[in-house]
Amino acid sequence: ETATSSRKRDHLVICCEKPIEAGDAGFKDVRLVHNALPECDMDAIETRTRFLDRTLSSPLFIAAMTGGHPDTLEVNRRLARAAERYNLGMGVGSQRAALEKPELEESFVVVREEAPHAFLCANLGIIQLRDHGIEWAERAVEMIDADAIAIHINSLQEAIQPEGDHNAEGCLEALRDLCEEFSYPVIVKETGSGISAGTARAIWGAGASAIDIGGYGGTSWAKIECLRARDPGLADLGEAFLSWGIPTVVSLCEVRTTGNPIIATGGLRSGIDIAKAIALGADLGGMALPLLKPAMESDDALFAAVEAIHRELEVAMFLTGSRTVRDLSHARTYITGLTRQMIETIN
Ligand code: FNR
Repeated sequence: ETATSSRKRDHLVICCEKPIEAGDAGFKDVRLVHNALPECDMDAIETRTRFLDRTLSSPLFIAAMTGGHPDTLEVNRRLARAAERYNLGMGVGSQRAALEKPELEESFVVVREEAPHAFLCANLGIIQLRDHGIEWAERAVEMIDADAIAIHINSLQEAIQPEGDHNAEGCLEALRDLCEEFSYPVIVKETGSGISAGTARAIWGAGASAIDIGGYGGTSWAKIECLRARDPGLADLGEAFLSWGIPTVVSLCEVRTTGNPIIATGGLRSGIDIAKAIALGADLGGMALPLLKPAMESDDALFAAVEAIHRELEVAMFLTGSRTVRDLSHARTYITGLTRQMIETIN
Protein backbone atom coordinates (compact mmCIF):
# COMPACT_ATOMS: atom_id res chain seq x y z
CA GLU A 1 0.00 0.00 0.00
CA THR A 2 1.49 3.35 -1.03
CA ALA A 3 1.12 6.63 0.86
CA THR A 4 -1.14 8.02 -1.90
CA SER A 5 -3.30 4.92 -1.85
CA SER A 6 -3.83 4.79 1.93
CA ARG A 7 -4.61 8.50 1.93
CA LYS A 8 -7.48 7.73 -0.48
CA ARG A 9 -8.93 5.26 1.99
CA ASP A 10 -8.47 7.71 4.91
CA HIS A 11 -10.41 10.32 2.93
CA LEU A 12 -13.40 8.07 2.25
CA VAL A 13 -13.65 7.00 5.88
CA ILE A 14 -13.40 10.58 7.17
CA CYS A 15 -15.92 11.84 4.59
CA CYS A 16 -18.52 9.35 5.70
CA GLU A 17 -18.02 9.55 9.44
CA LYS A 18 -17.23 13.18 10.15
CA PRO A 19 -18.68 16.57 9.25
CA ILE A 20 -16.41 17.69 6.42
CA GLU A 21 -18.35 20.57 4.98
CA ALA A 22 -17.52 24.18 5.68
CA GLY A 23 -19.08 27.52 4.90
CA ASP A 24 -21.79 28.47 2.47
CA ALA A 25 -21.69 28.02 -1.30
CA GLY A 26 -24.26 30.82 -1.70
CA PHE A 27 -27.25 28.82 -2.98
CA LYS A 28 -29.32 29.92 0.03
CA ASP A 29 -28.95 33.49 -1.23
CA VAL A 30 -30.26 32.56 -4.69
CA ARG A 31 -33.95 32.17 -5.45
CA LEU A 32 -35.36 31.17 -8.83
CA VAL A 33 -38.21 33.46 -9.82
CA HIS A 34 -41.47 31.53 -9.59
CA ASN A 35 -43.66 31.37 -12.68
CA ALA A 36 -47.29 30.97 -11.59
CA LEU A 37 -48.39 30.20 -15.16
CA PRO A 38 -45.68 27.87 -16.42
CA GLU A 39 -47.63 26.76 -19.56
CA CYS A 40 -45.72 23.51 -19.86
CA ASP A 41 -46.27 19.84 -19.01
CA MET A 42 -44.15 18.73 -16.08
CA ASP A 43 -44.12 15.16 -17.33
CA ALA A 44 -42.72 16.29 -20.68
CA ILE A 45 -39.83 18.30 -19.29
CA GLU A 46 -36.58 17.55 -21.09
CA THR A 47 -33.49 17.46 -18.86
CA ARG A 48 -31.26 16.29 -21.72
CA THR A 49 -28.28 18.54 -22.29
CA ARG A 50 -25.14 18.85 -24.42
CA PHE A 51 -21.65 19.04 -22.96
CA LEU A 52 -18.39 18.90 -24.94
CA ASP A 53 -20.14 17.41 -27.97
CA ARG A 54 -21.92 14.73 -25.97
CA THR A 55 -25.58 14.38 -25.06
CA LEU A 56 -26.19 13.63 -21.38
CA SER A 57 -29.60 12.79 -19.93
CA SER A 58 -29.32 15.43 -17.23
CA PRO A 59 -26.99 18.16 -16.02
CA LEU A 60 -26.20 16.18 -12.84
CA PHE A 61 -22.50 15.35 -13.02
CA ILE A 62 -20.97 12.77 -10.68
CA ALA A 63 -17.95 14.71 -9.43
CA ALA A 64 -14.50 13.16 -9.07
CA MET A 65 -14.10 11.25 -5.86
CA THR A 66 -12.16 8.11 -5.58
CA GLY A 67 -10.16 5.11 -6.73
CA GLY A 68 -6.64 3.86 -6.16
CA HIS A 69 -7.24 1.73 -3.09
CA PRO A 70 -8.87 -1.70 -3.18
CA ASP A 71 -11.49 -0.50 -0.64
CA THR A 72 -12.68 2.15 -3.11
CA LEU A 73 -13.57 -0.34 -5.86
CA GLU A 74 -17.13 -1.01 -4.72
CA VAL A 75 -17.94 2.72 -4.46
CA ASN A 76 -16.62 3.36 -7.95
CA ARG A 77 -18.54 0.37 -9.29
CA ARG A 78 -21.79 1.81 -7.91
CA LEU A 79 -21.14 5.35 -9.10
CA ALA A 80 -20.38 3.96 -12.56
CA ARG A 81 -23.58 1.90 -12.57
CA ALA A 82 -25.53 5.08 -11.81
CA ALA A 83 -23.69 6.95 -14.59
CA GLU A 84 -24.58 4.18 -17.07
CA ARG A 85 -28.17 3.74 -15.91
CA TYR A 86 -29.05 7.45 -16.02
CA ASN A 87 -26.63 8.48 -18.80
CA LEU A 88 -24.78 10.95 -16.57
CA GLY A 89 -21.27 12.31 -16.90
CA MET A 90 -18.87 11.06 -14.26
CA GLY A 91 -15.36 11.90 -13.11
CA VAL A 92 -13.11 9.43 -11.34
CA GLY A 93 -10.85 10.48 -8.46
CA SER A 94 -7.19 11.29 -8.89
CA GLN A 95 -5.45 8.47 -10.75
CA ARG A 96 -2.05 9.30 -9.30
CA ALA A 97 -1.87 6.20 -7.06
CA ALA A 98 -2.57 3.87 -9.98
CA LEU A 99 -0.13 5.70 -12.25
CA GLU A 100 2.56 5.24 -9.59
CA LYS A 101 1.58 1.62 -9.01
CA PRO A 102 -0.35 -0.10 -11.82
CA GLU A 103 -1.54 -2.91 -9.48
CA LEU A 104 -3.98 -0.30 -8.15
CA GLU A 105 -5.66 0.27 -11.52
CA GLU A 106 -8.55 -2.13 -10.90
CA SER A 107 -10.64 0.35 -8.86
CA PHE A 108 -10.53 2.72 -11.88
CA VAL A 109 -10.84 0.15 -14.65
CA VAL A 110 -14.10 -1.07 -13.08
CA VAL A 111 -15.68 2.30 -13.88
CA ARG A 112 -15.48 1.81 -17.66
CA GLU A 113 -16.49 -1.84 -17.30
CA GLU A 114 -19.69 -0.80 -15.50
CA ALA A 115 -20.31 2.28 -17.64
CA PRO A 116 -19.44 1.34 -21.23
CA HIS A 117 -21.45 4.25 -22.72
CA ALA A 118 -21.03 7.01 -20.12
CA PHE A 119 -19.11 10.26 -20.57
CA LEU A 120 -16.12 9.61 -18.30
CA CYS A 121 -13.44 12.02 -17.15
CA ALA A 122 -9.97 10.89 -16.18
CA ASN A 123 -8.37 12.85 -13.30
CA LEU A 124 -4.85 14.03 -12.63
CA GLY A 125 -3.41 16.73 -10.35
CA ILE A 126 -1.78 19.70 -12.03
CA ILE A 127 1.40 19.04 -10.00
CA GLN A 128 1.59 15.48 -11.38
CA LEU A 129 0.97 16.85 -14.87
CA ARG A 130 3.83 19.31 -14.44
CA ASP A 131 6.17 16.67 -13.03
CA HIS A 132 5.35 13.75 -15.34
CA GLY A 133 4.09 15.46 -18.47
CA ILE A 134 1.64 14.38 -21.11
CA GLU A 135 2.61 10.72 -20.80
CA TRP A 136 0.77 10.47 -17.46
CA ALA A 137 -2.27 12.23 -18.89
CA GLU A 138 -2.32 9.72 -21.75
CA ARG A 139 -2.02 6.77 -19.38
CA ALA A 140 -4.80 8.18 -17.17
CA VAL A 141 -7.17 8.47 -20.16
CA GLU A 142 -6.25 5.00 -21.47
CA MET A 143 -6.78 3.39 -18.05
CA ILE A 144 -10.53 4.10 -18.18
CA ASP A 145 -10.96 4.78 -21.90
CA ALA A 146 -11.99 8.30 -20.86
CA ASP A 147 -13.73 10.91 -23.02
CA ALA A 148 -11.95 13.85 -21.40
CA ILE A 149 -9.42 14.57 -18.67
CA ALA A 150 -9.89 16.77 -15.61
CA ILE A 151 -6.74 18.40 -14.31
CA HIS A 152 -7.41 19.26 -10.68
CA ILE A 153 -5.92 22.17 -8.79
CA ASN A 154 -5.79 22.02 -5.02
CA SER A 155 -3.35 24.66 -3.79
CA LEU A 156 -5.07 24.98 -0.41
CA GLN A 157 -4.75 21.29 0.35
CA GLU A 158 -1.15 21.18 -0.94
CA ALA A 159 -0.35 24.06 1.40
CA ILE A 160 -1.76 22.48 4.53
CA GLN A 161 -1.25 18.74 4.14
CA PRO A 162 1.99 17.31 5.49
CA GLU A 163 2.91 15.61 2.19
CA GLY A 164 1.80 18.60 0.08
CA ASP A 165 3.78 20.13 -2.78
CA HIS A 166 4.52 23.78 -1.99
CA ASN A 167 5.90 24.80 -5.36
CA ALA A 168 3.22 25.68 -7.91
CA GLU A 169 5.64 27.12 -10.48
CA GLY A 170 5.39 25.78 -14.01
CA CYS A 171 1.79 24.54 -13.72
CA LEU A 172 0.29 26.98 -16.21
CA GLU A 173 2.95 26.14 -18.79
CA ALA A 174 2.33 22.41 -18.28
CA LEU A 175 -1.37 23.05 -18.80
CA ARG A 176 -0.73 25.00 -22.00
CA ASP A 177 1.46 22.19 -23.35
CA LEU A 178 -1.21 19.61 -22.56
CA CYS A 179 -4.03 21.59 -24.18
CA GLU A 180 -1.91 22.12 -27.28
CA GLU A 181 -0.92 18.51 -27.81
CA PHE A 182 -3.63 16.37 -26.25
CA SER A 183 -6.34 14.86 -28.41
CA TYR A 184 -8.97 14.83 -25.61
CA PRO A 185 -10.80 17.80 -24.06
CA VAL A 186 -9.08 19.20 -20.98
CA ILE A 187 -11.24 20.32 -18.05
CA VAL A 188 -9.52 22.38 -15.38
CA LYS A 189 -11.04 21.78 -11.97
CA GLU A 190 -10.68 23.40 -8.57
CA THR A 191 -11.54 21.27 -5.56
CA GLY A 192 -13.21 23.61 -3.08
CA SER A 193 -11.67 27.09 -3.27
CA GLY A 194 -13.25 28.31 -6.51
CA ILE A 195 -11.90 30.06 -9.60
CA SER A 196 -11.79 33.83 -10.11
CA ALA A 197 -12.31 35.75 -13.35
CA GLY A 198 -8.55 36.29 -13.64
CA THR A 199 -7.71 32.62 -13.08
CA ALA A 200 -10.39 31.68 -15.63
CA ARG A 201 -8.78 33.98 -18.20
CA ALA A 202 -5.45 32.22 -17.65
CA ILE A 203 -7.12 28.80 -18.00
CA TRP A 204 -8.98 29.69 -21.21
CA GLY A 205 -5.78 31.31 -22.47
CA ALA A 206 -3.99 28.02 -21.94
CA GLY A 207 -6.55 26.38 -24.22
CA ALA A 208 -8.75 24.42 -21.79
CA SER A 209 -12.08 23.10 -23.08
CA ALA A 210 -14.04 23.56 -19.84
CA ILE A 211 -13.75 24.75 -16.24
CA ASP A 212 -15.14 23.00 -13.18
CA ILE A 213 -15.23 25.86 -10.70
CA GLY A 214 -15.00 23.64 -7.59
CA GLY A 215 -16.16 26.45 -5.34
CA TYR A 216 -16.17 26.98 -1.58
CA GLY A 217 -19.09 25.95 0.58
CA GLY A 218 -19.26 22.16 0.22
CA THR A 219 -16.66 19.54 1.00
CA SER A 220 -13.73 21.29 2.63
CA TRP A 221 -10.20 19.96 2.23
CA ALA A 222 -9.08 22.26 5.02
CA LYS A 223 -11.52 20.43 7.26
CA ILE A 224 -10.54 16.97 6.01
CA GLU A 225 -6.85 17.73 6.54
CA CYS A 226 -7.66 19.10 10.03
CA LEU A 227 -9.34 15.82 10.88
CA ARG A 228 -6.49 13.74 9.42
CA ALA A 229 -3.69 15.77 10.96
CA ARG A 230 -1.79 14.00 13.72
CA ASP A 231 0.37 17.04 14.20
CA PRO A 232 -1.63 19.69 16.15
CA GLY A 233 0.25 22.50 14.35
CA LEU A 234 -1.12 21.28 11.02
CA ALA A 235 -4.63 20.90 12.44
CA ASP A 236 -4.47 24.57 13.53
CA LEU A 237 -3.30 25.59 10.07
CA GLY A 238 -6.26 23.78 8.47
CA GLU A 239 -8.58 25.42 10.99
CA ALA A 240 -7.28 28.88 10.11
CA PHE A 241 -8.27 28.32 6.48
CA LEU A 242 -11.73 26.88 7.05
CA SER A 243 -13.37 29.98 5.59
CA TRP A 244 -10.92 30.46 2.69
CA GLY A 245 -12.18 30.35 -0.88
CA ILE A 246 -14.62 31.77 -3.41
CA PRO A 247 -18.16 30.49 -2.77
CA THR A 248 -19.51 28.43 -5.68
CA VAL A 249 -22.24 30.92 -6.64
CA VAL A 250 -19.77 33.83 -6.59
CA SER A 251 -17.18 31.86 -8.57
CA LEU A 252 -19.84 31.00 -11.14
CA CYS A 253 -20.51 34.72 -11.59
CA GLU A 254 -16.75 35.37 -11.85
CA VAL A 255 -16.27 32.78 -14.59
CA ARG A 256 -19.51 32.76 -16.60
CA THR A 257 -19.00 35.81 -18.81
CA THR A 258 -16.94 33.93 -21.37
CA GLY A 259 -19.56 31.54 -22.79
CA ASN A 260 -17.26 28.52 -22.46
CA PRO A 261 -18.48 25.25 -20.90
CA ILE A 262 -18.70 25.36 -17.12
CA ILE A 263 -19.37 22.74 -14.47
CA ALA A 264 -20.50 24.14 -11.11
CA THR A 265 -19.34 21.95 -8.24
CA GLY A 266 -18.99 22.61 -4.52
CA GLY A 267 -21.88 22.56 -2.07
CA LEU A 268 -24.70 21.68 -4.52
CA ARG A 269 -27.08 19.73 -2.31
CA SER A 270 -30.28 19.25 -4.34
CA GLY A 271 -31.77 19.32 -7.80
CA ILE A 272 -32.88 22.87 -7.00
CA ASP A 273 -29.22 23.86 -6.51
CA ILE A 274 -28.45 22.36 -9.94
CA ALA A 275 -31.31 24.42 -11.42
CA LYS A 276 -29.96 27.58 -9.75
CA ALA A 277 -26.45 26.87 -11.05
CA ILE A 278 -27.78 26.51 -14.60
CA ALA A 279 -29.80 29.72 -14.30
CA LEU A 280 -26.57 31.42 -13.21
CA GLY A 281 -24.62 30.20 -16.25
CA ALA A 282 -23.37 26.67 -15.55
CA ASP A 283 -23.77 23.88 -18.10
CA LEU A 284 -23.63 21.04 -15.56
CA GLY A 285 -23.96 20.79 -11.77
CA GLY A 286 -21.47 18.45 -10.08
CA MET A 287 -22.02 16.65 -6.79
CA ALA A 288 -19.57 14.62 -4.76
CA LEU A 289 -20.46 14.24 -1.08
CA PRO A 290 -24.26 13.86 -1.53
CA LEU A 291 -23.60 10.88 -3.83
CA LEU A 292 -20.74 9.39 -1.85
CA LYS A 293 -22.83 8.55 1.18
CA PRO A 294 -25.49 6.51 -0.68
CA ALA A 295 -22.76 4.99 -2.88
CA MET A 296 -21.10 3.58 0.24
CA GLU A 297 -24.42 1.96 1.11
CA SER A 298 -25.95 0.21 -1.91
CA ASP A 299 -26.90 0.50 -5.58
CA ASP A 300 -30.51 1.13 -4.58
CA ALA A 301 -29.61 3.93 -2.15
CA LEU A 302 -27.56 5.62 -4.85
CA PHE A 303 -30.24 5.23 -7.55
CA ALA A 304 -32.85 6.63 -5.14
CA ALA A 305 -30.61 9.64 -4.43
CA VAL A 306 -30.15 10.32 -8.16
CA GLU A 307 -33.89 10.04 -8.79
CA ALA A 308 -34.69 12.41 -5.92
CA ILE A 309 -32.26 14.97 -7.35
CA HIS A 310 -33.82 14.58 -10.80
CA ARG A 311 -37.33 15.06 -9.42
CA GLU A 312 -36.27 18.28 -7.67
CA LEU A 313 -34.65 19.51 -10.85
CA GLU A 314 -37.79 18.75 -12.90
CA VAL A 315 -40.10 20.50 -10.43
CA ALA A 316 -37.79 23.54 -10.38
CA MET A 317 -37.84 23.55 -14.20
CA PHE A 318 -41.63 23.27 -14.24
CA LEU A 319 -42.09 26.11 -11.74
CA THR A 320 -39.85 28.39 -13.78
CA GLY A 321 -41.69 27.45 -16.98
CA SER A 322 -38.55 25.81 -18.39
CA ARG A 323 -39.31 23.00 -20.84
CA THR A 324 -35.62 22.46 -21.55
CA VAL A 325 -32.27 23.06 -19.90
CA ARG A 326 -31.73 25.86 -22.40
CA ASP A 327 -34.94 27.53 -21.16
CA LEU A 328 -33.70 27.08 -17.59
CA SER A 329 -30.45 28.83 -18.45
CA HIS A 330 -32.56 31.96 -19.12
CA ALA A 331 -34.58 31.72 -15.89
CA ARG A 332 -34.46 34.80 -13.65
CA THR A 333 -33.00 34.72 -10.17
CA TYR A 334 -33.03 36.94 -7.09
CA ILE A 335 -29.67 37.16 -5.36
CA THR A 336 -29.49 38.50 -1.81
CA GLY A 337 -27.19 38.81 1.18
CA LEU A 338 -23.46 38.26 1.30
CA THR A 339 -23.53 36.54 -2.08
CA ARG A 340 -25.00 39.64 -3.69
CA GLN A 341 -22.45 41.86 -1.96
CA MET A 342 -19.60 39.71 -3.24
CA ILE A 343 -20.97 39.57 -6.79
CA GLU A 344 -21.30 43.36 -6.83
CA THR A 345 -17.52 43.66 -6.39
CA ILE A 346 -16.85 41.76 -9.64
CA ASN A 347 -15.67 44.10 -12.48
C1 FNR B 1 -13.17 14.68 -3.85
N1 FNR B 1 -12.85 15.61 -4.86
C2 FNR B 1 -11.84 15.31 -5.77
N2 FNR B 1 -11.63 16.09 -6.87
C3 FNR B 1 -10.67 15.77 -7.78
O1 FNR B 1 -10.54 16.47 -8.78
N3 FNR B 1 -9.88 14.68 -7.60
C4 FNR B 1 -10.02 13.87 -6.53
O2 FNR B 1 -9.29 12.89 -6.38
C5 FNR B 1 -11.04 14.17 -5.58
N4 FNR B 1 -11.24 13.36 -4.50
C6 FNR B 1 -12.33 13.56 -3.67
C7 FNR B 1 -12.61 12.64 -2.68
C8 FNR B 1 -13.74 12.78 -1.87
C9 FNR B 1 -14.03 11.74 -0.84
C10 FNR B 1 -14.59 13.92 -2.05
C11 FNR B 1 -15.80 14.11 -1.19
C12 FNR B 1 -14.28 14.84 -3.02
C13 FNR B 1 -13.55 16.91 -4.97
C14 FNR B 1 -14.91 16.80 -5.61
O3 FNR B 1 -14.82 16.41 -6.96
C15 FNR B 1 -15.69 18.13 -5.54
O4 FNR B 1 -15.02 19.10 -6.29
C16 FNR B 1 -15.82 18.63 -4.11
O5 FNR B 1 -16.01 17.58 -3.21
C17 FNR B 1 -16.98 19.60 -3.95
O6 FNR B 1 -18.23 18.97 -4.16
P1 FNR B 1 -19.22 18.56 -2.95
O7 FNR B 1 -18.59 17.42 -2.24
O8 FNR B 1 -19.36 19.76 -2.09
O9 FNR B 1 -20.48 18.16 -3.66
